[in-house]
Amino acid sequence: MISIVLLGTGNVAKHLFNAFLRVDEINVLQVIGRNEGHLAYFKDKVETGTDFTKITDADIYIIAVSDDAIAQVAPFLKKKKGLVAHTSGSVALKSLGDLNHRGVFYPLQTFSEGKSIDFKKVPICIEGEDKSDMNLLKILAGLISLEVHEITSEQRKSLHLAAVFVNNFTNYLFTIGHDICTEHNLPFSMLKPLIKETVNKLDYLAPLDAQTGPAKRNDVKTIESHLNQLKNKNYQDIYSLLSKLIGEKYGQKL
Ligand SMILES: NC(=O)c1ccc[n+]([C@@H]2O[C@H](COP(=O)([O-])OP(=O)(O)OC[C@H]3O[C@@H](n4cnc5c(N)ncnc54)[C@H](OP(=O)(O)O)[C@@H]3O)[C@@H](O)[C@H]2O)c1
Repeated sequence: MISIVLLGTGNVAKHLFNAFLRVDEINVLQVIGRNEGHLAYFKDKVETGTDFTKITDADIYIIAVSDDAIAQVAPFLKKKKGLVAHTSGSVALKSLGDLNHRGVFYPLQTFSEGKSIDFKKVPICIEGEDKSDMNLLKILAGLISLEVHEITSEQRKSLHLAAVFVNNFTNYLFTIGHDICTEHNLPFSMLKPLIKETVNKLDYLAPLDAQTGPAKRNDVKTIESHLNQLKNKNYQDIYSLLSKLIGEKYGQKL
């Protein structure tokens, strides 16, 4: 049995909490958060508290707070014998400061309120400083996910950077598409099969081989027409830059 204390009450804390609850070999002892109201979600199922000086002893302490707050929360665990791991994609392991056992437990997925996730398919990136810490993290990750990866802080930073491009930026492009549809009384749902196929194709093709569209084909007139349709200068700039980069990648001069 692995005992856990969760620190943080946000999206990741809630999703991890639910994943941990489903596993008999994991015992969540306590959830600590600074906001009493945000602890309400956990209250019926586990002991909760707002006092970071009253953290129960556990095998693993998972710090699932905002990136910038990790270094503020970690010192409360300085005297603990258990392993302290944060869940961030971009914060270095050493940012946890001076602790007995430090680690990282980064679930590579986008977690939002109200959308459940099958944790079995979430890659969990772990990092530890010695064999036994690594082993403990591997066991914990393996209990909730089928995909566990040992990576360094440096690799995790790069992975997170790549994730921002494929997830956050792509989602912003969906928002632009949504705005254009709304402006012209078209349902955004019409684009969903296209969005899904774009992603599904990646199971069979590398992104470089999957690219289509006017910029790849060097359809200059279509590109000019699209730029004229766009009223928003920032959207024009995004369209121009992406078209230029796609053109260059496939040997066109745009
Ligand atoms: N969301 C994702 O998709 C995702 C995916 C992988 C990893 N992560 C990582 O997981 C961590 C948590 O992200 P999240 O999405 O769960 O964030 P979130 O939903 O915004 O929640 C942030 C949590 O941090 C707490 N917090 C902020 N500042 C604090 C402080 N000074 N002292 C104590 N608690 C503080 C917040 O408390 P209040 O509620 O009181 O503000 C809240 O409980 C981050 O390191 C993030 O990079 C996120």
